[in-house]
Amino acid sequence: MATLVEPQSTRVAGCPRCQGGHEVYHYMHNMYEFDVDRARVFTQDGREAVEVDDESVTEAIENSTIHDDHVGHVDPSKPGIISFVYFRTDDGEVVKAQLLIDGHHRAARCLRDQVPFHAYLLTEEESRAIVVRSPDKPGHSLIGPSTPPLDAPDTDLHEPTTLDYERKYAASLPYSLRARKIIAGANTHDRRSFGPFGVYIDHAAGARKWDVAGNAFIDYWMGHGSLLCGHGFRPVVDAVTQQMLRGTHFGSCHPMEVRWSELVSQLIPSAERVRFTASGTEATQLAMRIARAFTGRNVIIKFEGHFHGWHDEAMSHFFPQERAGFNPGAVEHVVVASPVFFESALEQIASGNVAGVILEPGGGGSGGLPWSVELLESLREATRKHGTVLIFDEVITAFRHSPGGVQQATGIVPDVTTLAKILSGGLPGGAVAGRADVMAVFGNGVQRGDRYAQTPHTGTFNANPLSAAAGIAMLENIADGAHQDRAEIATERLVDGINDLADENEVDVFAYMNGTSIYHLLVGARKEGVPLAPSLDVTLLYRARQAYFALLRRALLVEGVDTHPLHGWVSSAHDDAIIDETLEAFDRAFHRLRDVDGMQR
Ligand SMILES: Cc1ncc(COP(=O)(O)O)c(C=O)c1O
Repeated sequence: MATLVEPQSTRVAGCPRCQGGHEVYHYMHNMYEFDVDRARVFTQDGREAVEVDDESVTEAIENSTIHDDHVGHVDPSKPGIISFVYFRTDDGEVVKAQLLIDGHHRAARCLRDQVPFHAYLLTEEESRAIVVRSPDKPGHSLIGPSTPPLDAPDTDLHEPTTLDYERKYAASLPYSLRARKIIAGANTHDRRSFGPFGVYIDHAAGARKWDVAGNAFIDYWMGHGSLLCGHGFRPVVDAVTQQMLRGTHFGSCHPMEVRWSELVSQLIPSAERVRFTASGTEATQLAMRIARAFTGRNVIIKFEGHFHGWHDEAMSHFFPQERAGFNPGAVEHVVVASPVFFESALEQIASGNVAGVILEPGGGGSGGLPWSVELLESLREATRKHGTVLIFDEVITAFRHSPGGVQQATGIVPDVTTLAKILSGGLPGGAVAGRADVMAVFGNGVQRGDRYAQTPHTGTFNANPLSAAAGIAMLENIADGAHQDRAEIATERLVDGINDLADENEVDVFAYMNGTSIYHLLVGARKEGVPLAPSLDVTLLYRARQAYFALLRRALLVEGVDTHPLHGWVSSAHDDAIIDETLEAFDRAFHRLRDVDGMQR
């Protein structure tokens, strides 16, 4: 068994045992002690080269030298055979050998021509992180199980970039390996899985964040869109710091929740009443419940590609292949409609059995998909006519698209709005806000014809004092729209700059924005015949070219920019200098990738 021991150092310029040249894997020397009692080394013609015992195998491995053509080979149909290696024996002969490892173990090794060869036996889980490759050779092996972690197939593309990534972020690997042993699924958000291993962040300020080794990035995740004014926005920091000293939970009503609701109501046109939750997911779940309670109907219409969090009804259609454990009833009562050909949704609403229609009013996928005032108007008219609750999920767009969200910008006011992210200043939180008569299903409920409608709602951290303090500070500071304008102008510059650089470098990348300070990236759209604009094909393109999206992301990480592969959230902290720096990073990333098959136009 491989035994994990605490790394003595995570940043050593060269491998102390190999005398340099192993920056990427040096820490494994410190991290693993190996016990190779079941490892056997064979010569090329199948003869056993070394007796099966710890000492001799260890010795054989440690004394051997990787020779030319040393790239390992993994044959998934023969789990015992991990790799072919070339040993140089004591008398100078070069022997090709198979390293045979017990099925539960895997080997990872330093690969460099003419350097000592070390084997490290890892458990299957650990080995998922280890990509063995030669810096000088095009081929490489992924030593690990045949089903790699999410996003990992993309590591097959363009080794120099992946190698640079592994080198630059080597200090994150020990955390990734430890996480694989203790965190279920190895991370806390499915979409944070990234191959060959994720970058671990230490701290952030303004438009930047820094990893555990001090590498700086310009950040375009921006708290998944919640940090409209950048990391560490002073008014929020001050409000939360003071609130920490005054109490983090009172188990009771507090004045800040009243003030916070009033601010929401002042900014969001539909918000006659507000109800706080602990996240956006909770808000959309509650909004659907409100729609059902209010109408006495069951069916909810949602739109293809529109994201509303991870509860069963929001996600059941999103990832049909990952639906284990979902309540089958959730699928039965949710109808998925096309946001482009929405006549079928209108027909369904006219049938009179629809409780609610929920959508991202600025386009699904944080605005990557198309939206139109016409769509919003048609839905508004049909839902009003047929007594259906219209729900705008403005978790992304509220306070960003305009201080009052898409509904303020378009004048189309829904019955109910879901809010989160910017709402609570980058701390956990969410809310449902809506028309007073619809929201009357809370508290003592309301008589609806011959029916009494009352919906329960609790939640330990609803409107918790820290989130409330952060949210109030945030909303007070963004109410005049200045931060939104700054972020939007920065996004325009960024999008234009990315497209100019993509043209110059002739890479198949295109950036666009769709009404607010979020940019969207298309990789391979020209090759796949996908329009260079918001379209439903964006989702298909991502599925078809996931590896290339990830490759661009990895190249940008190497160059000092961290972005979601599909889009990025821009903040008011992204000033001209930051945008210039970002464009320089895009230019370097495009230089890396312009000769990669599949990235060219
Ligand atoms: C439009 C939209 N709705 C709901 C959610 C879920 O919010 P949370 O992640 O706070 O649960 C998200 C999250 O990204 C979102 O983008």
